Amino acid sequence: MTAIAPSLLQELASRLEWAGAKTFGAVGQTLGQTVTPAKDLRFGDYQCNGPLTLAKTLGQKPREVATALLAALDVADFCEAPTIDGPGFLNFRLKPDFLAQRLQTMQRGDRLGIPPVPHPQKIILDFSSPNIAKEMHVGHLRSTILGDCLARVLSFWGHEVLRLNHVGDWGTQFGMLITHLQTTHPAALDQADALALGDLVALYRAAKARFDEDAAFREASRLAVVDLQSGEPMARLAWQLLCEQSRREFQKIYDGLGVHLTERGESFYNPYLKAVVQDLAALGLLQEDQGAQCVFLEGFLNKEGQPLPLIVQKSDGGYNYATTDLAAVRYRVTQDRAQRLIYVTDAGQADHFAAVFQVAQRAGWLPPTVEAVHVPFGLVLGEDGKKFRTRSGDTVSLQSLLDEAIARAAADWQSRNPGQPVPEEVVRTMAMGAIKYADLSQNRTSNYVFSYDKMLSLQGNTAPYLLYAYVRVQGIGRKGDLDFAQLADGLFTFADETEITLAKHLVQLPEVLMAVASDLYPNRLCQYLFELSQKFNQFYDRLPVLAAPEPERASRLGLCDLTAKVLRQGLELLGISVLEKM
Ligand code: ARG
Repeated sequence: MTAIAPSLLQELASRLEWAGAKTFGAVGQTLGQTVTPAKDLRFGDYQCNGPLTLAKTLGQKPREVATALLAALDVADFCEAPTIDGPGFLNFRLKPDFLAQRLQTMQRGDRLGIPPVPHPQKIILDFSSPNIAKEMHVGHLRSTILGDCLARVLSFWGHEVLRLNHVGDWGTQFGMLITHLQTTHPAALDQADALALGDLVALYRAAKARFDEDAAFREASRLAVVDLQSGEPMARLAWQLLCEQSRREFQKIYDGLGVHLTERGESFYNPYLKAVVQDLAALGLLQEDQGAQCVFLEGFLNKEGQPLPLIVQKSDGGYNYATTDLAAVRYRVTQDRAQRLIYVTDAGQADHFAAVFQVAQRAGWLPPTVEAVHVPFGLVLGEDGKKFRTRSGDTVSLQSLLDEAIARAAADWQSRNPGQPVPEEVVRTMAMGAIKYADLSQNRTSNYVFSYDKMLSLQGNTAPYLLYAYVRVQGIGRKGDLDFAQLADGLFTFADETEITLAKHLVQLPEVLMAVASDLYPNRLCQYLFELSQKFNQFYDRLPVLAAPEPERASRLGLCDLTAKVLRQGLELLGISVLEKM
């Protein structure tokens, strides 16, 4: 018998695929895709409703299809005999012996029994990507948190992940800013640290206002962009200083969040933009539309039913966001040799990426062997259900938001521990964990309401609830004066329903991590960890652990230890550190 895959869902799928093909030929192979974790654990741990659909295709009775399938299906090495229920569902239940053995495998080594993938990919994850001279806002926070988590999960599987910060460090905003600074703050154009980022943001707003009103200013700004793009030394220096200043501010936020990125901003692709347009022309994909160079898109229509263009060169000769992204795709495929390109931005950019991917594909720059995906996310809302803003109506700066979370976590801690000095590291960890978890635990495609009270609550699907479950296990260790690392591989025995339920949940870790790596929805991992904490609490509230007789004591301590390990690993993949005490 071959080894059973770390993901039991995947193991069942491949066995069903094989048995389906053997029994029904090619149509039967699809049975593998119809197995899911059971919704109601009373009937089994996994279920398969494939026989129902297949019966229709074959014109047979579902129960007959199910019976024939079972004759060819061998899962006895890890499941009880499967049952046929209802109109023709298959139900699978894991064997306790197998469960015990799986838990032992998970206890060994430091990967919870999950080996890296046999064929790791080179993956580029483009995330965070704020714009220079503008403040980072909550939208960039979502991208940063989601991107960091996805990078962690993909790296855990052994993929080589390049975390790229595609900062907006190029373009018309610099022309405006430089022109404005020439009259208001000339020192900022040739001296480092002449401005604070807060000023820079205000100056950018003022420059934008002048740009919108004043034709002469617009012309001067345009010339400044030309200077910058042609490498004129004064313009270059001013640009560099402005970028460095923003970069330092961004770095404070990344440090606070514990997120690491490699900066490769839009300016990096400047030397490759001309070739994008030339090569599209040579391929016959380019057309002129009102003076602009564009590629007309397939399947994107305007209200009149005409195909929409993707502009790659504006009528004034300048390049844009799309040109840069096309150059970036080419670079990432040919130079970085990436096999998967992932972009984490707000859902508002979905059309942009669909258009860029389509043009890159038609140009042959994005071969079928390379997968390009946009990972969209929704808005962050205030508790009033409207776009998250300060009382004065400004967008909330990320720094003030992180500071506020820390202040609230500190106040919360103090209220539970009156009179004691506030442990700064604990409070920081709680606050950052709470912010990250509040974001990651939502289905990323929906908008979510940002609420300090909810995210810091010890009740519900929150970081503090999960961290507390971990702390509880550490407390057991302290109380029993034992070192979990020194526990011999537990021999697991299951006497109570809560033990089995917890054990079955623990062994699902690999399938959850596989799903996150393929579908890129971190909320699946959050949900898993939340349920793990609940199941652990049910088990621990009901059964004695330290006071239990052997062999139950060792088995239960093993369950506690594994719960803590899975929580710690899972939280780490979310970018959240655990606490030993709270
Ligand atoms: N700077 C952009 C923004 O703030 C996000 C860039 C995303 N990455 C990319 N390759 N387009 O919206």
